[in-house]
Amino acid sequence: MRDVNQHSITAAVIDRLADTPDPRLKLVLTRLVEHLHAFAREVELTEAEWTKGIEFLTRTGQMCDDKRQEFILLSDTLGLSMLTVAMNHDKPLGCTEATVFGPFHVEGAPRYDNGADIANGAAGDPCEVSGTVRGVDGELVPNAVLDVWQADATGHYDVQYEGLDGPQNRGVLRSDSQGRFHFRTVAAVAYPIPVDGPVGEMLRATARHPWRPAHLHFRVQAAGYETLVTHVFRRGDPYLDSDAVFGVRESLVGDWVVQPDGGYAIDFDLVLNPEGRVRESRSANWSTMQDIVA
Ligand code: BEZ
Ligand code: FE
Repeated sequence: MRDVNQHSITAAVIDRLADTPDPRLKLVLTRLVEHLHAFAREVELTEAEWTKGIEFLTRTGQMCDDKRQEFILLSDTLGLSMLTVAMNHDKPLGCTEATVFGPFHVEGAPRYDNGADIANGAAGDPCEVSGTVRGVDGELVPNAVLDVWQADATGHYDVQYEGLDGPQNRGVLRSDSQGRFHFRTVAAVAYPIPVDGPVGEMLRATARHPWRPAHLHFRVQAAGYETLVTHVFRRGDPYLDSDAVFGVRESLVGDWVVQPDGGYAIDFDLVLNPEGRVRESRSANWSTMQDIVA
């Protein structure tokens, strides 16, 4: 096809995708082209803006390495990560809600027994964390693998320091025969997401703050259940209603209770969704979309 113009180019590109063998890829790319073109038309994108956007994305990629994922941070701050999580974990009522994974999880964290101190010297007020892992039908879930990680009192994760003597504030535990877990760590505090890259520029340009409310991360894996990736947020935190990455759910807010010794304790149950209990709306939607693109 020759002489494509601003009116015919969208159909021309979509036509070029017609022989894509993978139907899901065909659908996703077709819709992406439609939405990108519609966006450019709606805002009447100038060439200077197009160049600025390309430069921004280039610098975002250049900021990424094995410790820093600026593209995920961009997705998080634009709400795309939380939208994807919410759509894919629309669980039955009563299940613990999922939220963003974030960039600070490390696979292969140290294994601990219940009762252990996972802080490993991290700065902060002592905090006892406990809870029970259950299924949504009320059954106890023993032997669940709980991966936990959090920032220290200065708002930094261990991976943000050079030369630490071993992991801090992260570990892997298992729930006991009654589904219970407990460990010691430090009290969670609010912290800003990294702002020394393109995402920081975007936040400043849009007069947004970079803060996340205080939280503790969990990933819970148990045979027969959907993996749960979530946080528990600290009640009273001033950023609960303006989390930089839109991750807060009211059901995930817990109480850090001051103890007689001046430390804190938080007890929070984690409720898992049995594997295979899927929403029907997602598959129905998918078939309709396939029909549209076919
Ligand atoms: C976190 O909670 O670790 C996090 C999540 C998204 C972006 C940055 C940090
Ligand atoms: Fe975090």
